[in-house]
Amino acid sequence: MNPLNHVAIIMDGNGRWGLKHTNSRNKGHRAGLNTVEKIIKTTIKNQIPYLTLFAFSTENWKRPRSEIKYLFKLLEKFLKNKITNLNKNDIKLKIIGEKNFPLKLNKLLKKSELLTKNNSKLQINLALNYGSKKEIVNAIRTLNKNNKKITERNISGELYTKHIPDPDVLIRTGKTNRLSNFLLWQISYSEIFFSNKFWPDFTEADFIKIINKYRKIKRNFGEI
Ligand code: IPE
Ligand code: IPE
Ligand code: MG
Repeated sequence: MNPLNHVAIIMDGNGRWGLKHTNSRNKGHRAGLNTVEKIIKTTIKNQIPYLTLFAFSTENWKRPRSEIKYLFKLLEKFLKNKITNLNKNDIKLKIIGEKNFPLKLNKLLKKSELLTKNNSKLQINLALNYGSKKEIVNAIRTLNKNNKKITERNISGELYTKHIPDPDVLIRTGKTNRLSNFLLWQISYSEIFFSNKFWPDFTEADFIKIINKYRKIKRNFGEI
């Protein structure tokens, strides 16, 4: 049985779910938040110490202003309502990505990270304004600037995910089999699962099924 330390999820399909059920993409984002809460609970129940959630990519700025605004409002509300509870549950929140959002949201993100920084039951990495290529380029630039050698270890040490083990499992929901600039460096040996369900329809049972499948995979890491 493979140990499971880190699950990363590309939570895709909110917009299409919203259009299908309510004619509004934003309602899909709202519904997707319920899945986030369910999956956090399942992650804790299964004693997985790291969960990384892709919530907003560096490319998502290309979306209509109104959708972006809605997403940020949703995130703001979620943090305001839930951060105390997350903290009580010994959950550490870390933002991966560049925090350049409206001032109020930036402050809230920093405050939430600070509040939960010593927690240790589960670390949630929320990928916000995250782009993997940008992350890698920035890491190399920093090494250059500091006259450090370009090595795998040094590059890993300059990524947002330094000190976090690479994901064992990557899940993408939403019927789309691509990586969309997510954790390209970190998933070099992750087991990848694609689900045809839109994120709001993804259930605890779907998650458990993937975990069980993962546990039985023979992971070679190049060996035989
Ligand atoms: C993923 O759902 C969530 C974000 C990118 C914020 P989408 O909004 O991409 O949903 P689809 O893929 O358009 O259905
Ligand atoms: C990836 O989904 C980003 C998030 C889930 C936050 P997208 O919906 O943005 O990906 P593409 O554009 O379809 O590849
Ligand atoms: Mg999408």
